[in-house]
Amino acid sequence: METKWFGFLVLCACVCASTSRYIGDGFQLITNVLSEYLQTGISPLYWQNPSPNTLQSDYDLKAVNDSQICLLCDLVADFLIIERKLGVSDVQISAEAHYICTVLEIENSRVCNGVIKPVVEIFTYMIDNDEDISGSRICGLVLSEKNCDTKGNYQWTIDVPPGITIEKPKADATKTFNILHISDIHYDPRYTPGKAKQCGEPLCCQDDQEDGTDASDSCGYWSEYSSADVPLHTLQEAFNHISTTQEFDYIYYTGDTVNHRVWGTSIEANSLDITTVTEQFKKYFDVPVYPVLGNHEPHPVNAWSSEGVVDAALSTRWLFDLAAEQWGEWLTDEAKRTISIGGYYSVSPRKGLRVVVLNNNVCYNENWWLIKENKDPYGQLAWLSGVLLEAEKALESVHILMHMPTGTGSCMSSWSREYGRLIRRFANTITGQFTGHSHKDEMWVYYDSSDPTLAVSVSWNGASLIADKANPSYKLYQIDEGTFDVLDFEEWTFNLTRSNLDAAKNVEWYKLYSFKDAYGVDDLQPADVDNLLTRMTKDHSLIQKYYNYKFRNSDVAVKEGCDEHCEKDLLCNIVTTLHDDDEHCKRLQQLYDENKT
Ligand SMILES: *[C@@H]1O[C@H](CO)[C@@H](O)[C@H](O)[C@H]1NC(C)=O
Ligand SMILES: *[C@@H]1O[C@H](CO)[C@@H](O)[C@H](O)[C@H]1NC(C)=O
Ligand SMILES: [Zn+2]
Ligand SMILES: [Zn+2]
Repeated sequence: METKWFGFLVLCACVCASTSRYIGDGFQLITNVLSEYLQTGISPLYWQNPSPNTLQSDYDLKAVNDSQICLLCDLVADFLIIERKLGVSDVQISAEAHYICTVLEIENSRVCNGVIKPVVEIFTYMIDNDEDISGSRICGLVLSEKNCDTKGNYQWTIDVPPGITIEKPKADATKTFNILHISDIHYDPRYTPGKAKQCGEPLCCQDDQEDGTDASDSCGYWSEYSSADVPLHTLQEAFNHISTTQEFDYIYYTGDTVNHRVWGTSIEANSLDITTVTEQFKKYFDVPVYPVLGNHEPHPVNAWSSEGVVDAALSTRWLFDLAAEQWGEWLTDEAKRTISIGGYYSVSPRKGLRVVVLNNNVCYNENWWLIKENKDPYGQLAWLSGVLLEAEKALESVHILMHMPTGTGSCMSSWSREYGRLIRRFANTITGQFTGHSHKDEMWVYYDSSDPTLAVSVSWNGASLIADKANPSYKLYQIDEGTFDVLDFEEWTFNLTRSNLDAAKNVEWYKLYSFKDAYGVDDLQPADVDNLLTRMTKDHSLIQKYYNYKFRNSDVAVKEGCDEHCEKDLLCNIVTTLHDDDEHCKRLQQLYDENKT
């Protein structure tokens, strides 16, 4: 088999996985060629020399439906598996994928190289070590948003203990304390003001990139709204401001410490970034921090090795060991033990409150190791179930911290669904969920499965330090001392545009809003938030508020604005906690439409 051919197919797999933009007009041809090859073992003569130009035309996705994309992906993946089993080396696969990645200008050479190599190592390891690996398994994961037929894979469940959720006393708010929420620091040790804002690589403002030509196209001092991470001085500015002006008893840090230079990750570099950020927490704050692992922490990004993978170059063990060691002073021995299994733990910082930290990055559909897994990764949800049952018996209230929200197509349905079952079963024990990853100020409402009008839990998301179209921010929750309910929260931010205009001036942090005031609610209980959503369908100025707060009033987002389509999307997102369940989304959008006329 010609090497170009082969590289092209590797590319197809990569492209299907990421953007699906460059598949090209030759879609039908490729599908035919692959079917023919897989059936006959002979590469058809009419496809000996694919020209990159024919593949580079921008692809009209509407012309191809999801089942066709799934079919192509299945064929490509089956082809890869066969070739590998016939002895193609990972060096050769990497070299060919690199050739195509650069010829098609998907990324430049160093980015292609840095991204492809570690991923190819994982795939070849799995093909070599797993009899059951198949195209439909690979595509069911990689293209999970397209709902490809997974042939029954990824359908695992966990045991949820019987019983009904206990009644709980109401919060009386006589005594309260605060919890600080920070997320997505994405610390960038190479951040360099003055570099070109648009650099042609996934992450800009890097010390080894071109300089900008003038102030308008150069990276600002504090960070940028796109393709930029967080320099140390911005992190320190935030920590200094928080530690000198705010009062709180604990810090919830919902992960993503490592930057977006995904082509340059390594165990050494990531370890150094994590150590540096942990040191800053210890330097500025004297309260316990409960950190969560983000999807950017492993090397390569998103990859959480399956249990039983011992090869040091592939295993994620180094990260678990590092976390247990770095976070040790805030944890018990039992917490360190579970971290070393899968990056999750629970602690009880004061009587009646249990903080449960999950490593739910394992649900990410770019966690290639899931291809091997047909079960609850690291036994984490089974463990969670046990912890919740114990907490219920002990009349504790539980706060769940995790990096990823559960409602997007990038979190595999099986994980989200089983997690949702636990949320419903233990709705009164769980008094708050806290997430990050989206870099935006958002919330999610979970509903009962038998009574779709009954909201049972709310997840609070945001507090990201990275700008990413939004202004940098953090959150401060007011917590009831008796019930550990979230009574209210404040969101703090600063205007990144203004601060970059004069870096010598002090950053002006301000309180953007507090939830109760902003939305006119009495409480932040699930029922109150559900009520707010119904009001939003009538009073669209409330959705406009939600939109502005989502981006913390950033200039880019305010300028872009939010039209009717965007308003309905926002409503839909809030109530989607399982990717392929749109029941509540439809319900709210229908209300929105009814109220319009
Ligand atoms: C997708 O397109 C193919 C070919 O045009 C067609 O045969 C198939 O029925 C379509 N599938 C769906 C689900 O629309
Ligand atoms: C942020 O600052 C810029 C520059 O001073 C200003 O033009 C803009 O209106 C400010 N944005 C907001 C939302 O206040
Ligand atoms: Zn992030
Ligand atoms: Zn993330």
